[in-house]
Amino acid sequence: MRFRTRNPLSLPSGSSWPPTFPSPSSYFCSTLGRACITGSYTILSAAGAVGSSSSPHCHGVKSTPGLNTTYFRLPHGTPGLLGPSISLMAFMKKYLPPILGFFLAYYYYSANEEFRPEMLQGKKVIVTGASKGIGEQMAYHLAKMGAHVVVTARSKETLKKVVSHCLELGAASAHYIAGSMENMTFAEQFVAQAGKLMGGLDMLILNHITNTSMNLFSGDIHLVHRSMEVNFLSYVVLSVAALPMLKQSNGSIVVVSSKAGKMAIPLVAPYSASKFALDGFFSSIRMEHSVTKVNVSITLCILGLINTDTAMKAVSGIINTDASPKEECALEIIKGGALRQEEVYYDNSVWTYLLLGNPGRKILEFLSLRSYSLDKFINN
Ligand SMILES: NC(=O)c1ccc[n+]([C@@H]2O[C@H](COP(=O)([O-])OP(=O)(O)OC[C@H]3O[C@@H](n4cnc5c(N)ncnc54)[C@H](OP(=O)(O)O)[C@@H]3O)[C@@H](O)[C@H]2O)c1
Repeated sequence: MRFRTRNPLSLPSGSSWPPTFPSPSSYFCSTLGRACITGSYTILSAAGAVGSSSSPHCHGVKSTPGLNTTYFRLPHGTPGLLGPSISLMAFMKKYLPPILGFFLAYYYYSANEEFRPEMLQGKKVIVTGASKGIGEQMAYHLAKMGAHVVVTARSKETLKKVVSHCLELGAASAHYIAGSMENMTFAEQFVAQAGKLMGGLDMLILNHITNTSMNLFSGDIHLVHRSMEVNFLSYVVLSVAALPMLKQSNGSIVVVSSKAGKMAIPLVAPYSASKFALDGFFSSIRMEHSVTKVNVSITLCILGLINTDTAMKAVSGIINTDASPKEECALEIIKGGALRQEEVYYDNSVWTYLLLGNPGRKILEFLSLRSYSLDKFINN
């Protein structure tokens, strides 16, 4: 399976905030091989129980060298994990099925939504980094669906060709504005101009990246700066400039990221840092939109290796794995945006979604909101 999407924790419209979770009297957070549950702790090792602690706070995952250490907060009055009547297995038996059921329900709920190309008909869409690669393919899909498109990149001549092909394919309108996303003033003005050309904006697809080759990090701070500016900061500037229009249209922001923005990958440290930053920033903004009832969706797209010319050149002789087709990848990104999915995973391996999907993070994000007093931010 190459592609999965999910939208596990978005609230149905009309839901109250903060949300209520089917309330187990204890709760947990987990990282691979370890779990942390705050409160009065019983400590277990991989080999068995090793001791206990009663610290009221657990700010991080504590570990004993060589051991996977697990802390649990149990309901008041519950015998400890070392006690006779409750064990880790009993705890898992009790709480794991409802939690898994909850996630499966969300998964199937989101998977049942059907994409229809008409969803994009007449919609006003910006695609950045659209002179080649995945961005170019997204422009062509959008054109076939009858959308208005404004594309951008630095090279005018290639953009011209993309625009004329979009018109041939049936775009409602197609324009280009050339410029560099190293220039934040250009980024801001570009959105305003594109909005004027189309008379508004429904979807902002952020896709461009600065040129990156695969190399050991040599201490090149300029490359780190450029990567953070082009791959991250300009995304923030573009979305800030677009937000008023997107609020009006109840529109969408689509952020194209990478596996390198979810897991460590060697030889691309500055690129990876910029992609992780996208996750941190846009996932946080997505939560804020949910809290403040801003109906602008944010879709983060996590891509594996895609057969664009740039990527094929960059990985040549370094990575031996099949690349997925850019045309299909482009379509899946658009579908995820149109369906307002939180995340889109597109890769040649099903493990990417299964392992990077990280339900533990989602559960923790969801539960951690309960300790925030967010009332004063709502309807401000
Ligand atoms: N291909 C993959 O294997 C792969 C894997 C994971 C994630 N992704 C993500 O998918 C997205 C597209 O990748 P791709 O392979 O399609 O890239 P690509 O073919 O290299 O296209 C990059 C686009 O960005 C533009 N660009 C480069 N520097 C720019 C700048 N300073 N200002 C404005 N535009 C600039 C390029 O046009 P100009 O040179 O004309 O400016 C081009 O249109 C990226 O976000 C990438 O991280 C790709």
